Amino acid sequence: MRAAEFVRDGMVVGLGTGRTAAFAVRHLGEMAGEGMSFIAVSTSEATSKLAASVGIEVSTLDEHPAVDLTIDGADEVDPGLELIKGKGGALLREKIIAASTSMEIIVVDEAKLVDCLGEKEALPVEVLRFGLRSTMSRLTVLGCTASLRSSGGAPFVTDNGNYIVDCAFGPIRDPAGLHSLVNCTPGVVDNGLFLGMAKKVVVGGPEGVRIMERK
Ligand code: A5P
Repeated sequence: MRAAEFVRDGMVVGLGTGRTAAFAVRHLGEMAGEGMSFIAVSTSEATSKLAASVGIEVSTLDEHPAVDLTIDGADEVDPGLELIKGKGGALLREKIIAASTSMEIIVVDEAKLVDCLGEKEALPVEVLRFGLRSTMSRLTVLGCTASLRSSGGAPFVTDNGNYIVDCAFGPIRDPAGLHSLVNCTPGVVDNGLFLGMAKKVVVGGPEGVRIMERK
């Protein structure tokens, strides 16, 4: 696991959410078992549970507000290392921890690389439950098809007690502009555009692993 090679003794390590992050958490659990000493902060309840089960000490961001390194996945990565995240529903805590992290490392397979964000995936937007319909109609006015995410026949509820609306915009030509517009929409808590946050992207493909770095 290439991303885990950046972890050092004594670090505060952010743990992402999703299948890729879970793989990293298990690997970090093995490293902890072999004597590596670090403290973790977690981006979701599911990851906290997994981390505890593999022997990783999980603390809180309030106790450890300066995170040295975070390993997370992503849904889309563009050539400038800008990201769409949140398909796993953890975008809000992921973004708070990414914003508190010196070195955000994203691990993806090649299929997640895109020329333009939004070309494959909808943009996940975390919204308050209150006023859902009016929030969704304001998001639609921004130029997307907005769908309330569901799970098992009911709306999907995030760890923060909110809903996720998946907003299919198609290719996003101005991610920074859209980020501002979406986050200025009443009812929106945050969205899955992670801009200027990833420092390294570890890309796995048939020919092995390569690392893209922010310049
Ligand atoms: C969780 O909310 C997401 O941001 C995930 O990090 C992202 O969806 C990638 O997940 P996978 O590693 O499961 O593809």
